[in-house]
Amino acid sequence: MSNPSGVPADKLPRHIAVIMDGNGRWARERGLPRIEGHRRGSESVRACTAACMEAGVPYLTLYAFSKENWQRPADEVGALMLLLDRFLAERTAEIMERNIRLRAIGHLGDLPDKARRRLEDTIAKSANNTALTLTLALSYGARTEIVDAAREIAREVKAGTLDPETIDENTIASHLYTAGVPDPDLLVRTSGEMRISNFLLWQISYAEIVVTPKLWPDFAKEDLFAAMQEYARRNRRYGGI
Ligand code: IPE
Ligand code: IPE
Ligand code: MG
Repeated sequence: MSNPSGVPADKLPRHIAVIMDGNGRWARERGLPRIEGHRRGSESVRACTAACMEAGVPYLTLYAFSKENWQRPADEVGALMLLLDRFLAERTAEIMERNIRLRAIGHLGDLPDKARRRLEDTIAKSANNTALTLTLALSYGARTEIVDAAREIAREVKAGTLDPETIDENTIASHLYTAGVPDPDLLVRTSGEMRISNFLLWQISYAEIVVTPKLWPDFAKEDLFAAMQEYARRNRRYGGI
């Protein structure tokens, strides 16, 4: 049976990471407030999740809010936090029904208490689900993640539980927020911007990058399938020939 993505199962990425960008531009094009773009963007989250589940991609990581996004006007930040809270309130039942394991990476302590508690509840509730691991990056910054890892490693060395000579790439990887999750094979960014914006710097060192001009609220299941097809056509060489 052919895969709904149009990609043979052995050519699918195992982990897709998405920089969900362009909500503000989508709203501006329609003369709507930016937050309306964010609201519509949360519908695209459902579409992408469904696309991964139908194709059989087991890991999806979504960049929802960066450390740097706190600089935005307070009303936009407040509205985004409210959206997160509503997203969790409305979708937890669906997450459970669809057997999705929710995770989050970033400085979750920065989030408003209500949203953080809801997030932690859904994460705990869904911890044994197996169909898809959905990770939300919230108050996330890749450099901060590396700093946090360096501090933890230094603490272990100081405590005498880690020998500096044994530190290798696995030591670093296992101290990142993403410990235990395979590195993304495919990184998708919407809205045409050709940059990484401090997302998963360590983890994407060999990811294939697909940038689409589509704005995030317009991004549909077929668009993620198209990105998977593009990924399947790439020749990953990892420095070889
Ligand atoms: C992405 O859309 C959502 C977040 C960063 C929270 P933007 O809000 O960045 O949309 P543009 O880039 O201004 O169009
Ligand atoms: C990246 O988008 C962060 C998220 C998608 C959450 P931004 O819109 O914040 O990135 P820049 O400012 O264009 O680099
Ligand atoms: Mg943006």
